[in-house]
Amino acid sequence: LSTTEVDISKIQPGQAIKTSWRKQPVFIRNLTPAEIQQANATPLGELRDPQSLADRTKPGRQNWLVTLGVCTHLGCVPLGVGEGENRGPYGGYFCPCHGSAYDTAGRIRTGPAPLNLAVPEYAFKSPTVVQIG
Ligand code: FES
Repeated sequence: LSTTEVDISKIQPGQAIKTSWRKQPVFIRNLTPAEIQQANATPLGELRDPQSLADRTKPGRQNWLVTLGVCTHLGCVPLGVGEGENRGPYGGYFCPCHGSAYDTAGRIRTGPAPLNLAVPEYAFKSPTVVQIG
């Protein structure tokens, strides 16, 4: 299947789930207002791979962060949902393989990874259903 539909109705603010798409892990995270504020307060000039939270989310739904769960260094699955709740020093995701830390918008902040966690193609089919792919 090239697309997958995910029910997000049970994901509370501050929670995330791991699903999969094309055999790759995908994280769907419901950001808290504080996490959104933290992401928006970060100057783009501080970022290795400059993208705003708005660039990485859908209009009016900035709280829903949908990314591949694949570290952009060598492809490990970062912690922060599922295997471990260690979200690292920037509050997003943390890759234990070589210590890459991602922020609350899934953007790379420290460690060897070159790029932000990738955002797959996705769309809201309804307020509570996301179609990935
Ligand atoms: Fe994630 Fe190396 S694979 S830091």
